[in-house]
Amino acid sequence: MSDNPAPQSNARKVFIKTYGCQMNVYDSDRMTDALAPHGYTPTTDMGEADLVLLNTCHIREKAAEKVYSELGRIRDFRDERGPGAKKMLIGVAGCVAQAEGEEIMARAPAVDLVFGPQSYHRLPDLVERARTERVVDTEFPEEDKFAHLPAPRREVTISRGLTAFLTVQEGCDKFCSFCVVPYTRGAEVSRPVAQVLAEARALADAGVREITLLGQNVNAYHGLDAAGQPVSLGALCHRLAEIEGIARIRYTTSHPRDMDDELIAAHRDLDKLMPYLHLPVQSGSDAILKAMNRRHTAAEYIDIIGRMREARPDMAISGDFIVGFPGETDADFEATVEIVRTIGYASAFSFKYSSRPGTPGAGMDNQIEEHVKAERLDILQAEITRHSQAFNAGCVGMTFPVLIEKPGRNPGQVAGRSPYLQAVHITADAGLIGQILPVEIIGLAKNSLEGRIVTAATAAV
Ligand code: SAH
Ligand code: SF4
Ligand code: F3S
Repeated sequence: MSDNPAPQSNARKVFIKTYGCQMNVYDSDRMTDALAPHGYTPTTDMGEADLVLLNTCHIREKAAEKVYSELGRIRDFRDERGPGAKKMLIGVAGCVAQAEGEEIMARAPAVDLVFGPQSYHRLPDLVERARTERVVDTEFPEEDKFAHLPAPRREVTISRGLTAFLTVQEGCDKFCSFCVVPYTRGAEVSRPVAQVLAEARALADAGVREITLLGQNVNAYHGLDAAGQPVSLGALCHRLAEIEGIARIRYTTSHPRDMDDELIAAHRDLDKLMPYLHLPVQSGSDAILKAMNRRHTAAEYIDIIGRMREARPDMAISGDFIVGFPGETDADFEATVEIVRTIGYASAFSFKYSSRPGTPGAGMDNQIEEHVKAERLDILQAEITRHSQAFNAGCVGMTFPVLIEKPGRNPGQVAGRSPYLQAVHITADAGLIGQILPVEIIGLAKNSLEGRIVTAATAAV
């Protein structure tokens, strides 16, 4: 296959709808990139699509069920177009595809193609086959997917903006007893250092200023360098920080067990590494942490956060919580609320436990009733909101560097992010987009901060 632009007659459109985590967002772009040399351009209008792909998430029951209702809608849409319309293939990718391959084919006869996250480099071939037969590909192939996925053209990267995701690690060997990820994404694999650096350089060359390194357990990263030696995430951050143009580095999601001294030290030593840590704990109760197979205690988690804050005193902490795990008592739940108070999260995500097929949690006794989960979630979210509001309020009057990313909601406004990942709205000229400027926080909106750019003149007052 040549990389030359396809002739007009071959021009095809792909519509991709993405669910789930940031890795799926990254993967959807890579699928677009894989299809580009074959004449496909992305569209946001399903009506003109030759290929519709759903990139799905299996993490909770609701997320997985959404896929089937969406497939029903797409089938109706296709049927309504009538017999004269051009053929539209329907494909399901992502974690539901991996977990339920054949079941999707049985439940949704309109689907032409089902393929898991490890098959994305094969997508053009799979689509060709799907023109004549229904195709399921949920194998874990031998070859390195990333080595086979084509890079986007520079103009495409430019069109995607000033911040970018970069997957450095995929899969998980932790097997927390509630979680499907080890089954949907497979074993932990780290991309080689040279591959990561090459991708980061291409991003920087296209004007990207901030990269977020992705992995299901990103701090378990141990990709090999040219000498065949494993490199930790902290060391990788040092190498990425040397790339001119890349001004900010973030990473997500980390696991407490993999939080090593090198990564903590990197936060002390690297200005480019942003002071924001997403470190899920799930529960504050040691009994529940044990039942979840998290393999650390609440005290160990608190100690890690303490060491991070010693290395980088302004570190903002974020987390994930699950309420209503099987056997969770009122006292266990109270310990979770307590750890939220102890840490003082800048932000956090919390979920009702969702029983997932094939996980050990699904078979446990003492499943918690739905109304108890709902009550606990309300209480926990109120506590988290108190802390995140206090964190945001504490920023008023402070000045910090903001990456101006895009036009704001209203004319005359621009929008960016603080080092702590807060959205900041600023009244300023769109010509400043792409710069990192000192911004004083002057007010709070519902989900963002209001700021003004500090110039020599405003700094004097
Ligand atoms: N690798 C990350 C988390 C990936 S899943 C980690 O180890 O923390 C993202 C979040 O979804 C998890 O942190 C957890 O809070 C939530 N989650 C995962 N499985 C869940 C389930 N079965 N029910 C409810 N929430 C779940
Ligand atoms: Fe899931 Fe646990 Fe792996 Fe995170 S560490 S992806 S929660 S099994
Ligand atoms: Fe969902 Fe798969 Fe991500 S289950 S959270 S899309 S890794």
